[in-house]
Amino acid sequence: MTENALGAVKSAADVLRAAGVTNAKREATLLLAHAIGEDSGFLHREPERHLTVQQKETFDRLVERRSKREPLSHLTGHREFWSLDFLVTADVLDPRADSETLIESALARCEDTFKPRRILDLGTGSGCLLLSLLSELPKATGIGIDKSDAALAVARKNAVRLGLDAQAEFFFGNWARGRDEKFDLVVSNPPYIPSGEIEGLQPEVRDYEPHAALTGGTDGLDCYRQILFDVHKVLRPGGLLIFEVGAGQASDVGRMMQQAGFSQLKYHRDLASIERCVSGFLAD
Ligand SMILES: C[S@@+](CC[C@H](N)C(=O)[O-])C[C@H]1O[C@@H](n2cnc3c(N)ncnc32)[C@H](O)[C@@H]1O
Repeated sequence: MTENALGAVKSAADVLRAAGVTNAKREATLLLAHAIGEDSGFLHREPERHLTVQQKETFDRLVERRSKREPLSHLTGHREFWSLDFLVTADVLDPRADSETLIESALARCEDTFKPRRILDLGTGSGCLLLSLLSELPKATGIGIDKSDAALAVARKNAVRLGLDAQAEFFFGNWARGRDEKFDLVVSNPPYIPSGEIEGLQPEVRDYEPHAALTGGTDGLDCYRQILFDVHKVLRPGGLLIFEVGAGQASDVGRMMQQAGFSQLKYHRDLASIERCVSGFLAD
């Protein structure tokens, strides 16, 4: 007889903790739930349940991979973002809770007279930003652009799974280059980590996430410069631009936006009180 679910989770949590994984018990619980095809509440309901040999082997393999710091989302294939369930693979950035700040910021700025009907998401990855916005704005439609075909395939699957494929399309592209349509709202969470800081990132990010989703050049701001160079070609006068930024980058990006013709700038803080997004309207 193999050990019961609670025992298996406790041993796995010890292994994960020793490997430097924070929230080790919670992660072990999620991995076991995934291994046996249950929801995460099952451990609470059935702590004494005995695992089959096959279930235990599957769980052990997952724990071993996680102890090598492979991200949890790559092992389960899922990540919750804005209370929606997104498919995640090694080809896309694992959607971050911090990025929900961009959704909150956009919705906050859409409350009064500004009602976007067409949304453009530059560097869409899993599609989490565009699809979350469209789930909140059912009359809107939008386009997600990425320079990774593999990421676009994931985003398209997410659109279908979330029932948002009639509202969203995804295209290969280099930011907004070559697009001639004008949008009401442009959002972007571009790669913003200074290249010299990649080596010092936690292993989950450094070793498993696509580097094209991370690196923003020497000072981390290259992609903002590239996007701002011609964003006015795809944003209507009076339209709104919202960037996610790295910690400490908000004032630089805000200044760059002002120089590119944006006004009524707002700085939006995440749950850790870090300025995480900058938004502004393009002058008429
Ligand atoms: C930080 S990730 C953001 C992904 C997703 N929007 C999110 O918030 O989780 C940046 C994305 O930009 C894409 N990207 C990088 N350079 C690009 C470019 N020149 N044109 C279009 N997309 C680009 C990357 O492939 C990656 O998917």
